[in-house]
Amino acid sequence: MKALRSEWVDGGIRMVDCGEELDWEECGRLLLKEWPGEGADWMEVVYRGGRRTTWRPENAEGGPWNEGESRRLPQGAVIVATGGLRGITAEAALRLARSYDGRLHLLSRTVWQEGRVPRELKHLKDAVELRRGLIELWRGMGRTVEPGMIEREVQEIGKQREIRESMDRLEKAGVKYCCHQVDVRDEKAMKRVLAEIYAQEGRIDVVLHGAGVIEDKLLGNKTEEVFDRVYETKVKGARWLEENLRWAELNCVVLFSSVSAYVGNRGQTDYAAANACLNALGGGVAREIRGSGVVAGLEWLGGGGGRSGDGDGDGGEEIEGFGGGDDRS
Ligand SMILES: NC(=O)c1ccc[n+]([C@@H]2O[C@H](COP(=O)([O-])OP(=O)(O)OC[C@H]3O[C@@H](n4cnc5c(N)ncnc54)[C@H](OP(=O)(O)O)[C@@H]3O)[C@@H](O)[C@H]2O)c1
Repeated sequence: MKALRSEWVDGGIRMVDCGEELDWEECGRLLLKEWPGEGADWMEVVYRGGRRTTWRPENAEGGPWNEGESRRLPQGAVIVATGGLRGITAEAALRLARSYDGRLHLLSRTVWQEGRVPRELKHLKDAVELRRGLIELWRGMGRTVEPGMIEREVQEIGKQREIRESMDRLEKAGVKYCCHQVDVRDEKAMKRVLAEIYAQEGRIDVVLHGAGVIEDKLLGNKTEEVFDRVYETKVKGARWLEENLRWAELNCVVLFSSVSAYVGNRGQTDYAAANACLNALGGGVAREIRGSGVVAGLEWLGGGGGRSGDGDGDGGEEIEGFGGGDDRS
């Protein structure tokens, strides 16, 4: 809804959550009271236990644990990172593993394939050169050259290069790691991979759930397939983790969410919903486990470099009201 608000500019969207404790009449009365008037700056209001609550972002100091408490992982921590072969999850996993002499298990759909990048293209650096080189190569081989196929191949080669770079950095830092090719949306595959890690390591201490995709498009132009792909990568991935992890033994679980969940971004109805759901799931699990572990949802504020948009949204993660800078925090 928050994302839709920035797409449907002629209309107005507000969310009023009355819960189950109020009857229809009372809900109707509150709706009329909450009907957006001039200058109303809230987006979402929740009524619970006779209280009216709205959301407002605030600067927070420190981490998701109590003040004064410093959180340490055990040396030799076993760290599982979904989406951990590329981007900010790869970076976070590397740093954690380096600091705690940890062992990494990196889950990703794409893994390194020796020989996947054709020898003739290895020296080509940017996407433009690569596209040109690929067209020449395929023509020379008598292969059909279609723009869509070329783009997909350029993206695949880009992924391979990024993965190779991550692996080189891990090896240079002396980090022990293992890659698992798995689609986090696949329930059976996730169950199998996590069981394999438990069998091999005896425990899992830390989980980073960073797998995510964005395919920005206005809601009217999104297919169900696109919506599901974006939404399920985060939400199903988190669900299969929730069902297959031994929570009592975990030290820390970090869900890589986005400020998009709070502010909504044009073109990101699926992504905002997925991140909001991730936050709710994290909150629920945190309340349930009540052990010594921590569940944290990190609301990354993206921009430039990290994520790439595709389609007719505003692209990337330019956040309304945040200036769309380059910072990742
Ligand atoms: N970077 C930012 O500024 C920013 C801002 C806000 C939120 N975040 C969140 O932080 C996380 C990482 O962002 P990033 O920018 O580093 O992303 P990224 O570079 O695009 O990396 C995402 C990773 O997730 C993997 N992945 C995608 N779908 C998957 C699936 N179904 N199963 C397994 N792995 C899958 C990708 O590998 P394959 O495609 O090969 O599977 C890739 O390794 C995301 O959850 C994102 O929403 C990032």
